[in-house]
Amino acid sequence: MERALPKHIAIIMDGNGRWAKKRLLPKKMGHRAGADALKNLLTNIIEKTDIEHITVYAFSTENWKREKQEVDDLMKLLKDYICQYIKDNEKNNIKIDTIGDISVLSEDLQKDLAHLEKISSKKTGVNLHIALNYGGRDEIVRAIKNIANDVKNENISIDSITESLVSSYLDTREYNDPELIIRTSGELRTSNFLVWQSAYSEFYFSDKLWPDFTFEDLEEAINVYQKRERRFGGRLDS
Ligand code: IPE
Ligand code: IPE
Ligand code: MG
Repeated sequence: MERALPKHIAIIMDGNGRWAKKRLLPKKMGHRAGADALKNLLTNIIEKTDIEHITVYAFSTENWKREKQEVDDLMKLLKDYICQYIKDNEKNNIKIDTIGDISVLSEDLQKDLAHLEKISSKKTGVNLHIALNYGGRDEIVRAIKNIANDVKNENISIDSITESLVSSYLDTREYNDPELIIRTSGELRTSNFLVWQSAYSEFYFSDKLWPDFTFEDLEEAINVYQKRERRFGGRLDS
């Protein structure tokens, strides 16, 4: 029997730089094409699937190591797309929020993100979680600090610290872990994405560069996922 569709898919959208390089274009054109690929995918997801959550890796805590020009271009692109999503909010059916430490982003961008989160909060088509200045380890460190503070202030006891309590201190606390994680561009690593949450996720790696990834490719990833056996450490035959 085929498994049900995943409710939460997370995507490491990698390969924008190589996509641009292949075409002798500046990197920012690759990032732009990548943002367009996401937009197109979301339209299809809403129209054709019951997927409830999509988490996308847009900027990692390590991506600050890139040249200033590329980081600036990425922030500018982000701003453009956030403004576009704000403008299109009436016709879109996407509820948008972020994971990651956005407190270091420009105040302007933080304001736009807060506004978009607010005006899209009643949308029902799909929940889009954008990972921005996100790192799985950073998220866990922030959670540990908050837990330690709550122990110190006697809001919780040490004995109450369980896996589910830790989950409740993470940025993803309001929804379940992804059943499926997709990474494009042929790289076989997680690059600090959803470190805690991916403990039992299925991984699907595509050789396609992110701007070339289509809804058909997503369907293929889901097909493969549906054929996998998920055992969670147990046995299926007993
Ligand atoms: C992914 O594309 C987007 C970000 C990391 C922001 P890359 O820019 O990493 O693309 P490649 O890996 O250089 O091809
Ligand atoms: C992961 O891609 C981060 C994003 C897609 C935003 P990277 O291109 O930054 O990862 P590495 O450097 O190849 O591990
Ligand atoms: Mg990359």
